[in-house]
Amino acid sequence: MKTRVLSGMRPTGSMHLGHYHGALKNWVRLQDEHDCFYFVADWHALTTHYEEREVIEQSVYEMVIDWLAAGLDPDKSTIFIQSRLPEHAELFTLLAMGTPLGWLERVPTYKDQQDKLRDRDLTTYGFLGYPLLQAADILIYKATYVPVGEDQSSHVELTREVARRFNHLYGRGGGFEQRVAAALARLSKDDQRYYERQRKAFGETGAHEAWAKGEALVRRNAAALEGWTDPDTELLLGHLKGSGRSVLVEPQALHTEVPKLPGLDGAKMSKSYGNAVLMRDDPETVARKIRGMATDPARVRRSDPGDPDKCPVWSFHQVYGNDASRQWVRQGCTTAGIGCLECKQPVIDAIVAEQQPWRERAAALTAEPKKVHWIVENGTERARTVARQTMKDVREAMGLGY
Ligand code: TRP
Ligand code: SF4
Repeated sequence: MKTRVLSGMRPTGSMHLGHYHGALKNWVRLQDEHDCFYFVADWHALTTHYEEREVIEQSVYEMVIDWLAAGLDPDKSTIFIQSRLPEHAELFTLLAMGTPLGWLERVPTYKDQQDKLRDRDLTTYGFLGYPLLQAADILIYKATYVPVGEDQSSHVELTREVARRFNHLYGRGGGFEQRVAAALARLSKDDQRYYERQRKAFGETGAHEAWAKGEALVRRNAAALEGWTDPDTELLLGHLKGSGRSVLVEPQALHTEVPKLPGLDGAKMSKSYGNAVLMRDDPETVARKIRGMATDPARVRRSDPGDPDKCPVWSFHQVYGNDASRQWVRQGCTTAGIGCLECKQPVIDAIVAEQQPWRERAAALTAEPKKVHWIVENGTERARTVARQTMKDVREAMGLGY
């Protein structure tokens, strides 16, 4: 079975090159080898922009069109919208009951964002709780990998803690002890004694060797015994660890090393800073924006030598160039051998070429809005099947199965 990957983005409308190189490109790459779930985090947008009701619907579909234009394939990836799945809210509520306030107050983005977005009132309950909502988004699909930027690491870490706590608190319910006993009874007497020895040793000393021996024994039996199921394996491994059953899966963040693409002024690329090149900007706009880009401030005149390390255009050459072109830039810039417009031209050409397939796909999709809606509809129903099953497990584990 393929491992599950899950990620989400807030609906910010049309995507820019920073979104593509920082996230989307990776999402597209992952869909060939994993069972990928990608969703529009529209509730998350409300945690900071709850008063802006007009923009959201348009933004959702603009963003989905760019995802598809970038190469997300609805036959490979499940694409959906968070708010269409109230199950996320149910899990969020249930997890909230046992999550210490301090865990949320300690998440670094909480203070950071409040400092950054000073013009907004972020002293809301929703804003404090949003990393827990994110945890619910992830845990409800039992995702193994979560591709996100470094800035989201602390949210994935919180998700792991929440899952661990949940399994610890509730993984023993639902007749856990009896089910463990029933599964154990299927092993030979010798294996039972061996398992018990390893479990004790692991409990007392935490020795990895004991865990590994116990696990090997369980797996050997799992492969050999007729009618043995995965939940049986989960039970015995959980019992071996002393943690109860793993109802929720601890995910891992997946960071990819990509050269950063800054905005036109060298700051982080963002539509709200007005320094972005959009995925669907037309070639003239791209040329105009790149020609107007900031360069090394020391190059006032054409004859002044420059330093690529002090120039945001250089970062674009990292993403779009190759060794030879970078050699040309470094040499030309530091000796004033090339002018800045000359230096920018290969970047313009590369962006325009990169955008070509996006433009074509996006044009086709924009002409058929029903098709886009249908893709999202389909993905949403696929996601719902998984989310419902998890909620069933969760309710049962928490004693809400009545
Ligand atoms: N919080 C993420 C962001 O602001 C978006 C997000 C919401 C997310 N839920 C998620 C990302 C679950 C990964 C997994 O970018
Ligand atoms: Fe930047 Fe290129 Fe101009 Fe050097 S020549 S300052 S790298 S744009």
